[in-house]
Amino acid sequence: MARITAGVTTSHIPALGAAIDLGKTGDEYWRPAFAGYEWTKAWEAEQKPDVVVLVYNDHASAFDMKVIPTFAIGCAEEFKPADEGWGPRPVPVVEGHADLAWHIAQSLILEEFDMTIINEMDVDHGLTVPLSLMFGQPEKWPVKVIPLAVNVVTYPPPSGNRCWALGEAIARAVASFPEDLNVQVWGTGGMSHQLQGPRAGLINAEWDNSFIDRLEGDTQELRHIPHIEYLRETGSEGIEMVMWLVMRGALGRATRILHRHYHVPASNTAVGHVVLEPVP
Ligand SMILES: [Fe+2]
Repeated sequence: MARITAGVTTSHIPALGAAIDLGKTGDEYWRPAFAGYEWTKAWEAEQKPDVVVLVYNDHASAFDMKVIPTFAIGCAEEFKPADEGWGPRPVPVVEGHADLAWHIAQSLILEEFDMTIINEMDVDHGLTVPLSLMFGQPEKWPVKVIPLAVNVVTYPPPSGNRCWALGEAIARAVASFPEDLNVQVWGTGGMSHQLQGPRAGLINAEWDNSFIDRLEGDTQELRHIPHIEYLRETGSEGIEMVMWLVMRGALGRATRILHRHYHVPASNTAVGHVVLEPVP
């Protein structure tokens, strides 16, 4: 059967992708931000996951105000890198796992999660930057990817509790897929950041690190953080962290942190990155 072996979280800051694409990761400014991913690159090369369920948000690339799915799952055979205004990133086309994606969609919908099924979609930095951070610059991505898009751009985003419960349901779906697959769930976005208004540039390292602390172990405190706390403590874009809770929910009762990295600043955002494994 398919099994979830690990969870990964990371910020998906577009400037990190640009630094990789332009060969600037060794620059003094960027080096400490990227250093925290070296451990994970080596670990991923050993783990060799077959599929990543990659939880991210679209930034007005595939969706706009015409259609705003709260939760959307990509069931296509492939997803092309989106053109976000400067041409598509020079990264490989993302290969999907249509059979597992359709299985997860069926399982979630029959469990009463109203997923939007997407059969054609370009994927933006929210999805491709995490792949670059974990796998570098290969000719072809070494995993198949099931994009799972969450609306955190337009109010109202889903609650942290709903995201955690979605993760739990994804775990049940994966566990009932009758193929021997090593599956990871990644939650992306965050950490604290605000891109506009009088508080632009807000970073709250203390809150961010407390959030990371509570991803480990068996506490379920994070699922009950209200939207207003994300807004107040982490800025208007910190709400992206609810996507980390889909990953956390998918890991089950308890977790152990294998690796953590936190760095400020990268662009106007805090970089957070954690690797976790489920503890039965
Ligand atoms: Fe984002």
